[in-house]
Amino acid sequence: MTVDTLLYEGKAKKVYATDDAEVVKVSYKDDATAFNGVKRGQIAGKGAVNNQMSNLLFTYLEANGVNTHLVEQLSERETLVKKVQIVPIEVVVRNIAAGTFSKRLGVMEGVDLPHPIVEFYLKNDELGDPLITDDHALVLGLATSSELAALREQALTVNRLLQAKFAACQLILVDFKLEFGKQSDGAIVLADEISPDTCRLWDSETRKKLDKDRFRQDLGDVEDAYQEVFARLTAIS
Ligand code: CDP
Repeated sequence: MTVDTLLYEGKAKKVYATDDAEVVKVSYKDDATAFNGVKRGQIAGKGAVNNQMSNLLFTYLEANGVNTHLVEQLSERETLVKKVQIVPIEVVVRNIAAGTFSKRLGVMEGVDLPHPIVEFYLKNDELGDPLITDDHALVLGLATSSELAALREQALTVNRLLQAKFAACQLILVDFKLEFGKQSDGAIVLADEISPDTCRLWDSETRKKLDKDRFRQDLGDVEDAYQEVFARLTAIS
């Protein structure tokens, strides 16, 4: 039996080489971190939910014209994805005030924003992923201005599609983070994951939090919340 070479281990996933130089295998872990790694724990079954939920959503986005890194789900926790170079910009889209937006700008959690907004953060744990402007991204050489425009446009398209998908299972998409990757041919595709780790999702009726905020804020029932979101999505897909 050959053992796959571990290329990288992050906070929530391990990445392995495969026989195909253009493809890597991602394995999702149950480990959870928050506040830039200060809070750590485990969420039982999270890896399996996040892997399958992310693949379900990436498949839906692909069907609606969004290019992603998804190749093929291998098992509950493992997926083949295209090998990409991650663009070191975390792209956050917000529909409702929450999290750092609320803290930074003094807007109460739960306030509807008049229109969706896109924010860029430098993907750098040592610096605590600081918020950056377009000019910062340009002078740091993180992306060109046309790439920044494409990231913003893609993020808003993904927002529109995800809002519709989640609304169909009685979930409000409050905000979320996307990462993009550059393929060897230079094309930029949606990468990383879309899951309750990377989205804020509230029940449409009760506004109960069904995402990582349950872990961040010690609200309990974390595992159940992740399972609930996945169950609702599979029920309509
Ligand atoms: O997550 P936090 O409250 O620290 O920051 P935020 O800027 O309010 O996060 C906006 C959205 O992006 C939330 O849905 C977060 O879960 C997600 N996010 C993420 O997945 N990874 C990060 N490094 C930062 C934010």
